[in-house]
Amino acid sequence: MTLNSIERLSTGIKELDELLDGGIPKGFFVALTGEPGTGKTVLCITYINEGIKEGDKCVYVTTEESKRSIITQAKMFNMDFEKAISEKKLVLADALMGDDDPWSLKSLEIDELIGKIIEAKKYLGYGRARLVIDSLSAFWLDKPAMARRHSYLVKKVLSKWDFTIFATSQYAITTSYAFGWGVEHIADGIIRFRRIIRNGQLKRYILIEKMRQTNHSLRLHEIEIKPGAGLTIIGASEMRVEDIRLPKSVVDKIVKTRQEEEAEYSNA
Ligand SMILES: Nc1ncnc2c1ncn2[C@@H]1O[C@H](COP(=O)(O)OP(=O)(O)OP(=O)(O)O)[C@@H](O)[C@H]1O
Ligand SMILES: [Mg+2]
Repeated sequence: MTLNSIERLSTGIKELDELLDGGIPKGFFVALTGEPGTGKTVLCITYINEGIKEGDKCVYVTTEESKRSIITQAKMFNMDFEKAISEKKLVLADALMGDDDPWSLKSLEIDELIGKIIEAKKYLGYGRARLVIDSLSAFWLDKPAMARRHSYLVKKVLSKWDFTIFATSQYAITTSYAFGWGVEHIADGIIRFRRIIRNGQLKRYILIEKMRQTNHSLRLHEIEIKPGAGLTIIGASEMRVEDIRLPKSVVDKIVKTRQEEEAEYSNA
């Protein structure tokens, strides 16, 4: 197989596809990680909208926000998720919202998640598929040491169903410094979102930290989120990655917390 023969999926953002040397390799499990409000959900919505346009079977699981909130957010970027749902191109499932929607998850158990996703794929039919789990870290919040095992299960089981997967993870002390407990090694790709405040202004950045089989950009790029346009790449940042790295004292604290929790879990 030559390098060029890898099938790649467009993210829905042309400039990001270029940074990815053509897009996300089909079948990959990609982790999107970053602080709150940095654009993870917006990228997930854009990725799914592109799938709808290209005729892929699309499944979006939202744990942090309701189904309604995702539909409203998509609408702001002129993306009609309600239409896609009614045309059987998209299954949008939320969790713990207490309504009687048949796709709604009643618990944050990994087995229920995987079962629902397979059911959704059967409902949508045969063919190339896209999956978003926003967030996957919600499934191990109370058992952080399970992060790696859960992610491995999701990747292994769901790749058989023709999915290319985006899974988000919150960036917090409790979900570890990186994606979490070795998940970064399981993921085929990692797209990291960052934010800083410079001269009193919030700026957001994106960095492709890992994408197997891909000659991807290694530069930090500034992004912008706007009504209508959605997420756009403004350009390469002059900043070095070192400039946005967390201070050593914070990293040390996170590593310590992580070790303590892992020890606690393995003793349990
Ligand atoms: N219509 C819009 N116009 C301008 N900015 C918008 C619009 N919709 C969303 N945004 C911006 O996107 C941000 C939300 O981004 P997003 O929901 O993707 O964050 P996230 O990384 O998923 O965060 P979290 O981890 O909290 O879920 C908002 O805070 C806002 O700044
Ligand atoms: Mg989000």
